[in-house]
Amino acid sequence: MPDPTDHFSDRPVPVDDGLWSVDAAPIHPLGLTLPVRMSVVRLADGGLLLYSPTQHSPTLQRAVEEIGPVRHLVAPNVAHWMFVRDWQRACPDAVTWGAPGLSRRAQVRAAGLRIDADLGDTAPPPWRGEIDQVLVTSGPFAEVAMFHRASRTLLVADLVVNVEPGEVPPVTRGVMEAAGMLAPDGRAPVHLRMLLKLNGRAVGEAAERLIALEPRRIVMCHGHPHEHDAADKLGGALDWFVGRSGPKPGVSPVAAGAVAAGLLIGAGLAVARGRAARR
Ligand SMILES: [Fe+2]
Repeated sequence: MPDPTDHFSDRPVPVDDGLWSVDAAPIHPLGLTLPVRMSVVRLADGGLLLYSPTQHSPTLQRAVEEIGPVRHLVAPNVAHWMFVRDWQRACPDAVTWGAPGLSRRAQVRAAGLRIDADLGDTAPPPWRGEIDQVLVTSGPFAEVAMFHRASRTLLVADLVVNVEPGEVPPVTRGVMEAAGMLAPDGRAPVHLRMLLKLNGRAVGEAAERLIALEPRRIVMCHGHPHEHDAADKLGGALDWFVGRSGPKPGVSPVAAGAVAAGLLIGAGLAVARGRAARR
């Protein structure tokens, strides 16, 4: 089976039965380099669910549709929606699902993205029994992690980030190191961890549910998937949420958080503004 971390392939690469990864070219919010990945799940009815769609192109769409028809577009958190609109236009029969709160964001409406249904803490009928989901939310942030039962793979957007240090330029590497996002034991950026701590009990319970899934693999939207010791890696990445530890020593939460917030949350804004400027 091909290496699922075949970087920047910009085509579906098999990960497991019914699961593919698309590693797109990195995006550059604030001049930094951020690798991005879409996951493709083939449901029992043959239709596809795209988790955090990456930049659309006709070539990529054709490659995806060789697997099956695109039926569901999932914007899994409030920052991961920037490429969904183009997929929506190219796949008019697909249903667009958004993290709670996404449809109310002014930037989303201004970008012309239509959210057909909100994701919740339990799987809706189209993929119930095949994919479990866990909602993690605090303040303006919400992310829905998905657990593909057949492959025991956990799909996350920003809850676990694990960027290989050698795959990003030095400035980005420094920012990500300060924010705790680098492999081999990367976590959510420190600003996000601090935000999630504000809703401590609910986030802790959600983290416990994720850990209880005991995934065999973790595929995140930014960085190197965990193909080995995934359950342990997940426990390590989420221990901050379940109260077993605090921020790593040496982290500068204010400085790193400000930059990392722009890196992840601002990515959507940058893309939306760029498109607005081109109109
Ligand atoms: Fe992200």
